[in-house]
Amino acid sequence: MKKLRVLVLVHPDLIPPDSSKGYSEQEINEWKTEYDVVTTLRRAGHDVHPLGVHDELKPIRDEIESWKPDVVLTLLEQFRGEAVYDQNVVSYLELMHVPYTGCNPRGLMLARGKDLSKTLVHYHRIPVPAFTVFPMRRKVRRPARLGLPLIVKSLNEDGSYGISQASVVDSDAKLAERVSFIHERIGTPAIAEQYIEGREIYVGVLGNERLRVLPVWELEFGNMAQGDWPIATEKVKHDPDYQERRRILHGPAKNLAPELVARIQRIAKRIYRTLELDGYARIDFRLAADGTPYFLEANPNPEIAESQEFAAAARHDGIKYPDLLQRILALGMKRAAPSVVAG
Ligand SMILES: Nc1ncnc2c1ncn2[C@@H]1O[C@H](COP(=O)(O)OP(=O)(O)O)[C@@H](O)[C@H]1O
Ligand SMILES: [Mg+2]
Repeated sequence: MKKLRVLVLVHPDLIPPDSSKGYSEQEINEWKTEYDVVTTLRRAGHDVHPLGVHDELKPIRDEIESWKPDVVLTLLEQFRGEAVYDQNVVSYLELMHVPYTGCNPRGLMLARGKDLSKTLVHYHRIPVPAFTVFPMRRKVRRPARLGLPLIVKSLNEDGSYGISQASVVDSDAKLAERVSFIHERIGTPAIAEQYIEGREIYVGVLGNERLRVLPVWELEFGNMAQGDWPIATEKVKHDPDYQERRRILHGPAKNLAPELVARIQRIAKRIYRTLELDGYARIDFRLAADGTPYFLEANPNPEIAESQEFAAAARHDGIKYPDLLQRILALGMKRAAPSVVAG
């Protein structure tokens, strides 16, 4: 591919340094995605310009007009601290008619709500955990159809924000307590889902119209403390010391029958299409002991640090990291205009 001007949108605190030398593992962990993306694309010969974005669109516009990037690569997961505003920034890029990587704004919106995405997916007869939503300031009453244990989460946050061992509740008192925690501390409505005992399975999908599905990946909870639930809490996802201590590892899912692998991959593609995703996304499941893959959530624009699940699964499938980033740029540049997609 020819040398491109790539404008990379990042959180202002996560503009990566030129070299990771002298930083602790904890520090690197904060900006490893931004660092890996920027350094890898530079090494591939592209002209890469990271731009910190917090609560202003004007710098994006100025940069697009003065520097004229060939493509905007967005690593933003929020705007003004709000995760749900990620789609607004992408909508703005769409209005500016500049090619951008990752998912279109409609897909971001459909995938965001943990209730909406499950309702859409369930319509296509794909198994999802039973759930109920607890809006803000409403009394918490568990519907009779929902048995315990349940897992209580923010309706629309991600990155396991607000998810800890206390999220899994086995009594109505604990349910009420955890719902008010989400309302008051996280500041969003809550969703309570049937807790699905099973393996934690991730499936990467890459593409706009034609899709490439990556190998079925598993997060293994090697060595949890006695009585702990094997779930991807904030600590499991973001604390390297904890990951090491508890031997949290990810890798290709082992010992799955080829038919089951094919089925999971087929379902992942159907979910990707149902939620109108494009670019790249990771679809997450819990695989119950009877072989049913329950859809947990779709993550458009998942984290793509070289060591993380998506890039690792791509590498396992023969797509080296620089090639993966190159494909993501190419998919952004050849996305059809919205009118074509909608038609
Ligand atoms: N219904 C469920 N049954 C079992 N575990 C769940 C369920 N929902 C979530 N979890 C666990 O919690 C983690 C985070 O939940 P998720 O819905 O993916 O939120 P986030 O968007 O914050 O990642 C999952 O990766 C999984 O380990
Ligand atoms: Mg998740």
